[in-house]
Amino acid sequence: MSGGFKGLSVDAARRHLASLLKQTSTDSPELDARLLIGAVLDLDLTGLATSASRIIDEQEAGRLADVARRRGAGEPVARIIGFKEFWGLPLRLSTTTLVPRPDTETVVEAALEIANTGEADAIARIADIGTGTGAILLALLSELPTASGVGTDIDMAALETAADNARQLGLANRTTFIHCSYAQALQGPFDLIVSNPPYIPSREIAGLAIEVRDHDPHRALDGGADGLDAYRALIPQAALLLRTGGALLLEVGQHQDQDVGALMQAQGLRLAATKADLAGIPRVVIGQKWGPAGSFWQ
Ligand SMILES: C[S@@+](CC[C@H](N)C(=O)[O-])C[C@H]1O[C@@H](n2cnc3c(N)ncnc32)[C@H](O)[C@@H]1O
Repeated sequence: MSGGFKGLSVDAARRHLASLLKQTSTDSPELDARLLIGAVLDLDLTGLATSASRIIDEQEAGRLADVARRRGAGEPVARIIGFKEFWGLPLRLSTTTLVPRPDTETVVEAALEIANTGEADAIARIADIGTGTGAILLALLSELPTASGVGTDIDMAALETAADNARQLGLANRTTFIHCSYAQALQGPFDLIVSNPPYIPSREIAGLAIEVRDHDPHRALDGGADGLDAYRALIPQAALLLRTGGALLLEVGQHQDQDVGALMQAQGLRLAATKADLAGIPRVVIGQKWGPAGSFWQ
């Protein structure tokens, strides 16, 4: 089936794809169409412009019809094309990795604000707990050329994807990936520990958008009955692994900031700050291992 794409020019096919997507639930049909047609024809923005009048052949028409059907059925563009840009870095996805979200860039921003308060070199070792594609860790290492980091995940295939992303980005020599539950197998001290753990309360998963519910791995989403299981497990581990003065930065779901802050304080961490995302929602809770000496940031 060619879905009406055969014989169209590249530009007309892009417009046809956008009009098909407009009839479905996607709220960004033009952008989706551009990304999808670019992936199917292996053309970047410039290539799409310079090939605008080239005629789509039968095989390409079939592939475009297939991506239109998949996107129309609620599969996210990132899953169809197999990668997602995060912090300007192209990250490969696999079926067991979450699609990195723009909200999570707030964790990266908060960590870099800490790194930039004076002694950036003081951030030598970073741990990213539940690393998925490696998004947070690789973004930080791309900005902190003297740092190295460890990413953990319970999912072996996710770790292979993260390691592959590290290689593609030229960061493999500064990364290690470890298969374990949260931070269980790590040895400190770390200057920064970051995590975007699973935090959706189990009963809310069935009501999530199709893009998330049917296409993101549930292990990356499900935070247990109240959404806080991962924080209960990882905060005590992280508190032991941080160096004095080091910081723990945790992404949280809506309305979870106070509970997560209390869990940090219960482990002796100083509640240092909360950072909101672009929508103004408290998104990152920051705790610091407090002590008489060695503090690079307060
Ligand atoms: C919300 S996703 C975040 C992925 C990535 N850090 C990001 O921000 O895009 C949570 C990640 O935690 C991992 N995870 C779930 N349970 C875990 C556990 N017990 N120990 C380690 N990682 C776990 C999942 O496999 C998933 O990769």
